[in-house]
Amino acid sequence: MTTHLQRIEVRHAFPVVFTRDLFAPRNPALRDAVARGQPDRRHRCLVLIDRGVKKAFPDLPARIRAYFQAHADALQLVRPPLILAGGETIKQSAAPVRRMLDALRAGNICRHSYCLAIGGGAFLDAAGLAAALFHRGVRHVRIPTTALAQCDSGVGVKNAINFEGSKNLLGTFAPPWAVLNDAGFLESLPLPLLLDGIAEAVKVAAIKDAAFFRSIERAAPKIARRDLPAIRRILQRCALLHLEHIATSGDPFELGAARPLDYGHWAAHKLEAMSRHRLSHGHAVAIGIALDALYAACLGLLPESQACRLIQTLRACGLPVFDPELARTTRPGRLAVLDGIEDFRAHLGGELTVTFPAPLGSRVELHTIDETLMADCIAALAEWGQPLNVKSRERKAAIHGLTP
Ligand SMILES: NC(=O)c1ccc[n+]([C@@H]2O[C@H](COP(=O)([O-])OP(=O)(O)OC[C@H]3O[C@@H](n4cnc5c(N)ncnc54)[C@H](O)[C@@H]3O)[C@@H](O)[C@H]2O)c1
Ligand SMILES: [Zn+2]
Repeated sequence: MTTHLQRIEVRHAFPVVFTRDLFAPRNPALRDAVARGQPDRRHRCLVLIDRGVKKAFPDLPARIRAYFQAHADALQLVRPPLILAGGETIKQSAAPVRRMLDALRAGNICRHSYCLAIGGGAFLDAAGLAAALFHRGVRHVRIPTTALAQCDSGVGVKNAINFEGSKNLLGTFAPPWAVLNDAGFLESLPLPLLLDGIAEAVKVAAIKDAAFFRSIERAAPKIARRDLPAIRRILQRCALLHLEHIATSGDPFELGAARPLDYGHWAAHKLEAMSRHRLSHGHAVAIGIALDALYAACLGLLPESQACRLIQTLRACGLPVFDPELARTTRPGRLAVLDGIEDFRAHLGGELTVTFPAPLGSRVELHTIDETLMADCIAALAEWGQPLNVKSRERKAAIHGLTP
């Protein structure tokens, strides 16, 4: 037998730009990001737009056209933008990805040209998959337009669509060519869509950066009032923490079992599916991280006072920490959400590894979840979901000895 160990080292570097008025002709961010390394040629681009963004910014296609005209020496729009409905429905079947692939083909996009996608996290997940599949991967520029996409999903290296009811079952790891975060897109977002990003910020702060958690805690009343400068600061820090994790964790393509950035996500993914996506990803994450904080407190991993602060911060921002789906049963005594634990294990492959918060700013990985204790935590969380009153405080305290 002869074995040759083939080694391939691939380095990825992509700019993540925070800007405003991306399509103002005087703004060089898009031109520079596309043309980086090759300033002397004309770059062919196809643009994909989330219909929700087009609705909020009806002049967007005209502004894109004007930008490309102003930079015609460097950029070429190969055809009018393809506009498709965004939101979770775009991930529910392969048909929208197919339409994107048709557009990439009709535009003769090659591995030296560009697929620009403008939209929320779901739209970018679908567009990223189309770009990764076409010619085995064409240059993909992400222009995220929601809070969650700007602070988390849009800056990472993953894409996916759902398959047969399973969240993100079909997808690839494919670093983008560039990410361009335009703060102007946040201005049209209603508070719940801004809070989706805040939920991911609380998640990453709780397990990685105690000082950042304290700043979110302090800013909570401003966040609840939709104070955009305060929200923007938090989203930017959140994006940088996600980027830092991907760059330094040693496992950017998630080959290992641990998924720190998926703290709270075993329950979140299940709740999204159980609610047929009535619960957005971010709102489901808020509930998931509240639940796992309570569980960590019960095990003595996270000081009880800190679990309470985490839950209070989510609530003070206006995020939910409970939903009736948590109490749904498949048969008497069996909570449906607990099936999310096995789904999560199957998605990771191999051993179950779940990240729980330890003292603020740190985390632990556990390989088992005690379902009886988790069910107790769900019961305790139900009390948090109600307006707090003396009776509920007493009952909750009786369950876990915690003080809301
Ligand atoms: N790839 C990853 O690493 C990763 C990480 C986290 C989440 N995700 C995925 O991201 C998705 C959630 O993304 P999301 O929270 O951005 O929501 P979303 O993409 O579902 O968008 C929500 C709605 O907002 C609209 N919209 C987008 N931008 C807008 C704007 N500027 N103004 C007004 N409306 C706008 C969309 O059309 C849609 O109707 C989930 O599918 C989740 O699984 C992926
Ligand atoms: Zn998430």
